[in-house]
Amino acid sequence: MNRHVAVLMGGWSAEREVSLVSGAAVAKALKKTGYRVTPIDVQRDMGALMTRLYPRPDAVFNALHGRYGEDGCVQGLLNILDIPYTHSGLLASALAMDKPMAKCLFAAAGIPVAEHKIVRRDDVVQGDVMARPYVVKPLNEGSSVGVTIVLEGDDTPPFTDANWPFGEEVMVERFVPGKELTVAVMGDKALAVTEITTDRGFYDYDAKYAEGGSAHLVPAPLETAVYDEVMRLSALAHEALGCRGVSRADLRYDGETVYLLEINTQPGMTHTSLVPEQAAHVGLSFEELVSWMVENVECDP
Ligand SMILES: Nc1ncnc2c1ncn2[C@@H]1O[C@H](COP(=O)(O)OP(=O)(O)O)[C@@H](O)[C@H]1O
Ligand SMILES: [Mg+2]
Repeated sequence: MNRHVAVLMGGWSAEREVSLVSGAAVAKALKKTGYRVTPIDVQRDMGALMTRLYPRPDAVFNALHGRYGEDGCVQGLLNILDIPYTHSGLLASALAMDKPMAKCLFAAAGIPVAEHKIVRRDDVVQGDVMARPYVVKPLNEGSSVGVTIVLEGDDTPPFTDANWPFGEEVMVERFVPGKELTVAVMGDKALAVTEITTDRGFYDYDAKYAEGGSAHLVPAPLETAVYDEVMRLSALAHEALGCRGVSRADLRYDGETVYLLEINTQPGMTHTSLVPEQAAHVGLSFEELVSWMVENVECDP
């Protein structure tokens, strides 16, 4: 009997559209590999729906991004249903989604992180809460949603009260100039370092997803010692949060220090996404990558 995999995608987070593309690519690849696949566009009735599936799924491939799918909620539900799933468990997912909490743990593990303050959004509207340049970001979003860079010469406040839907508190973080780097971690191994370049000012939502919005250099053109350090820090960060399966670390390198920005516990899985690209770089096809993920599913112990 072919193993039955439910592929969770969509949902209702800000990253719904990206998740649908990831999910469709994954479902297609799993089918091609011989799994029995049920794609599910997740709604709030997901729990009931999962118990009605026949045959009962042997595994869940979680292709959700953002709130509920990436923050531990779906992971908790799957723990209760006792259906093993791809990627990190409840706690690691929740920690990674909460940027201040994750940075605390990274720092405790000896990983350099950019200095930040948590302030009320009104304070940011009223004036600079730290010397420019700095970055304003929501405490728990993804895909650069809500991330605003405030440079020396900018004369407008980063946002007005009315157009900030991401909560009362925001993170204001020291801007790290230099290179944008990302590393996929699979199991406990870092795969490769990709440098991302964009002519859009920074790696915003459109640079991430629009055709030609950014270029990926893999392997990143770095000195060997720096390359190795980026790989080491990424694997260490995965471990520090207790991540499982595949995750992706986002970093910046200012020519002196490698700073970890965050860990994505549900990284994009479209054919052109960064993780599949690094897998290909180390000789793993998209089908081999998603099969490995399904063969390494777990519930929290
Ligand atoms: N401190 C920083 N210095 C420079 N650029 C940053 C900084 N923080 C975020 N950015 C830019 O914004 C992007 C998104 O920020 P990130 O913290 O990774 O949040 P998200 O969860 O939205 O991906 C980064 O990939 C980077 O290009
Ligand atoms: Mg990021």
